Amino acid sequence: MNRIFSGMQPTRQLHLGNYLGALRNWVALQNEYECIFCVVDLHALTIAQEPEVLRNNIREVAAAYIAAGIDPDKNILFNQSFVSGHAELGWILSCHTPLGWLNRMTQFKEKAGKHRDMANLGLYSYPVLMAADILLYKATHVPVGEDQKQHLELARDIAGAFNRHYDTEFFPLPEPQILGEATRVMSLRDGTKKMSKSDESEYSRINMTDDADTIAQKIRKAKTDPEPLPDTLEDLEKRPEADNLVTIYAALSGETREQAIQRFAGAQFSQFKTALLDAAVAHLAPITQRMNELLADKAEIDRLLRKGGERAEAIASRHLAEVKDIIGLLRP
Ligand code: TYM
Repeated sequence: MNRIFSGMQPTRQLHLGNYLGALRNWVALQNEYECIFCVVDLHALTIAQEPEVLRNNIREVAAAYIAAGIDPDKNILFNQSFVSGHAELGWILSCHTPLGWLNRMTQFKEKAGKHRDMANLGLYSYPVLMAADILLYKATHVPVGEDQKQHLELARDIAGAFNRHYDTEFFPLPEPQILGEATRVMSLRDGTKKMSKSDESEYSRINMTDDADTIAQKIRKAKTDPEPLPDTLEDLEKRPEADNLVTIYAALSGETREQAIQRFAGAQFSQFKTALLDAAVAHLAPITQRMNELLADKAEIDRLLRKGGERAEAIASRHLAEVKDIIGLLRP
């Protein structure tokens, strides 16, 4: 059986990278797979959180999923901390993960920066908890943006190590699904840096909650170069900011990058940016509006998350019991 698991952290607002790199693909995949979409609130604790802000961010991510088109009845939609099996399996898997594997993780190195000794243990073991998220449901497919590829390879390695150690085929090796034209959306201020929630500049990203004026301002200010747009992908790829904007346009308008570059070959950025911001507003405005409607009824979001959590728990507890049997832990 094919089962999808994927998630997003409720840290700050979701942005266009999260949407084009992951969420939009989930919406398309929900018709083909049994899907579990999670708000990974335990992962968010790896950076300092204000309780009230965290609570709201969890609801906001859930609202973004639904507003983007995830059906909470057809799919399982819940927040990670509802199901204690994530943390429990995380511990078990951490005992099957050599430190050397974690030392290779580039995201930890980036996030810990120079002060690695001051980074918390959770940030370091973050990818093990992510492996647990996926394996707890024996998910076979994981749709993510390109930046999560290394974490997914680790999840496969951990699943393989567990299976070999206990001479079993209990865990499937999950396949990454890195789909669409915009698998790595870059900052609007610097085409060599990933669009990210942690960037200090608000002008580096378009948030899913931005209104039309804010989107227009951010796109107008987006960094470009002085040349008109080129007519081949090869020339485009030498120009990171132009490449990023054309990629975003292609993803939003459902074209390939090749088609988009043909359409705008020789155009000035001012003309192209008008088309880009029209496409961004047309795509995002209905989602933002639906998100705001959903967020007006927090109790309803909490109810949906609880309902999803109960469905997730039913699968997780069954699998965790089987894991305990495999490794020789006595069950209550
Ligand atoms: P997170 O919360 O950083 O990002 C959520 C999703 O958005 C994608 N993404 C991007 N895609 C394209 N361009 C970008 N600039 C961009 N920025 C983010 C991410 O690749 C991701 O798919 N570790 C995960 C959350 C997680 C998870 C999991 C994912 C926890 N457990 C289990 C899948 C399965 C993360 O931090 O994503």
